[in-house]
Amino acid sequence: MGKISRIQIYDKLDTIQIPGTDITPIKFKGVKGLDISENGEIEVRIELPSQAAGHEKEFEAAVKEALLSVEGVKEVSVTLKIQTKAYGQVEQLNLLPKVKHPILIGSGKGGVGKSTVTVNLAVALAKSGYRVGLMDADLYGPSIPTMFAIEGEPVVNGKGQIIPFEKHGVKLISIGFLLKDDTPVLWRGPLLHKAIQQFMKDVDWGELDFLLIDLPPGTGDIQLSVAQSTRVSGAIAVSTPQDIALIDVKKAITMFRTLKIPLLGVVENMSYFRCSECGHIHHIFGGNTTMDAGDKLAAEVLGKIPITIAVREGGDNGVPVMILEPESEAAVAFSNIAKKIAERLNS
Ligand SMILES: Nc1ncnc2c1ncn2[C@@H]1O[C@H](COP(=O)(O)OP(=O)(O)OP(=O)(O)O)[C@@H](O)[C@H]1O
Ligand SMILES: [Mg+2]
Repeated sequence: MGKISRIQIYDKLDTIQIPGTDITPIKFKGVKGLDISENGEIEVRIELPSQAAGHEKEFEAAVKEALLSVEGVKEVSVTLKIQTKAYGQVEQLNLLPKVKHPILIGSGKGGVGKSTVTVNLAVALAKSGYRVGLMDADLYGPSIPTMFAIEGEPVVNGKGQIIPFEKHGVKLISIGFLLKDDTPVLWRGPLLHKAIQQFMKDVDWGELDFLLIDLPPGTGDIQLSVAQSTRVSGAIAVSTPQDIALIDVKKAITMFRTLKIPLLGVVENMSYFRCSECGHIHHIFGGNTTMDAGDKLAAEVLGKIPITIAVREGGDNGVPVMILEPESEAAVAFSNIAKKIAERLNS
């Protein structure tokens, strides 16, 4: 029996209509908790708009039936809460009302360069004059503090909100700024959800044009929490050209689809290496990897980033290549991608 994935469960929940409305609990952003045990027990907590009042039993039965059809699911327990407000009367939960465009950066597998891409796109957008924030949502392995060479704790303002750090024109927050030592934190679903929501509502982001959200690899709790807590303008999937990574990138694309987040495109990182002696291009991870246009998961490749020492050193030393070598091929590629994203979202 394979492990039951959260995305499978979300996909199923997305087939159920909330009584009295034409939307699903996923579109309503009503899933507030989901626990999946090793032996196939599912615990799901859902909030519904007032239209569903009186229809709890029927909705619960529909949820149970749908989830029990997923392979490996043995038992389903549903906790429902009916909100006092009706769908359509109130705005959906949006913890980032002052951010014009929250953008997610994800990948199917780890180590493909999500954080590197996020950092450099953020700096590129800031250089173009936009108000930019970067939220490190990788609660397990935050890398933003290192990539910006920031240490210490952020200050709290008079209203009890955390003031983000600011560097190279980008406002930054990371769990790495808030945890004092290297003790690994064992996050569980509800705690993760809370931490993500705090990063939104308890941080004094101010007015922003773009908030880039650096996700952990894969398709887990954090990704779902982010998508359920705010409106998201678009998502970027990062991949390397290796076949295996292309298969992995499809996992990320499928996840964004399930979460109803428009995909802006794919950034192909570590795309090639240009020899500094002869200028020859080497496709270290294999060439000709553009996605097959006939594939239903095909996505636009927004740009290709070469492998360069400056990109890697920039990440290790806290000086992004956009600052270290702004005229380099990699930096120009990041600028072009940033320009595309800004044009697309502001049009
Ligand atoms: N284009 C590049 N050229 C050279 N080195 C790169 C490039 N992109 C990323 N790297 C290096 O590869 C390593 C992994 O990159 P990064 O941390 O951005 O990946 P990630 O996808 O965020 O990883 P994780 O899944 O752990 O969050 C880092 O050391 C980074 O400096
Ligand atoms: Mg990362």
